Amino acid sequence: MYSEKVMDHFNNPRNMGEIENPSGVGTVGNAKCGDVMRMYLDVDESGVIRDVKFKTFGCGAAVATSSMATELVKGKTVQEALQVTNKAVMEALDGLPPVKVHCSLLAEEAIHAALWDYAKKQGIVIEGLKEPVGDITALENA
Ligand code: FES
Repeated sequence: MYSEKVMDHFNNPRNMGEIENPSGVGTVGNAKCGDVMRMYLDVDESGVIRDVKFKTFGCGAAVATSSMATELVKGKTVQEALQVTNKAVMEALDGLPPVKVHCSLLAEEAIHAALWDYAKKQGIVIEGLKEPVGDITALENA
């Protein structure tokens, strides 16, 4: 039911943890299952994602998709990171069962929320980036 890659990233998640004083951080939640994902970005002066970490309070597929998503955005520019969609994450994981597709959406939204926060802090606009729907960062900081 789960691909070997999903199992691998679930058992050995890459880039789990947090970044102190991140360039951008975003937290998103899925109202239906209650799972929460937080993504931290460390972006250098030229807009390249130097480091990325995540924390996921959620199901196994959410852990695996966050792990894969961090691997896909690391070393990319913030603009390129926008192309790391949930589809790209799923493909990189050799697929997910249909009931688990929403978990990969959480990963995409977490990246977008962290990028949104980064852009806000920098006072820049990342072309094509929309305010993420599931963003609960503001709620958390309230
Ligand atoms: Fe909700 Fe996986 S069941 S993120």
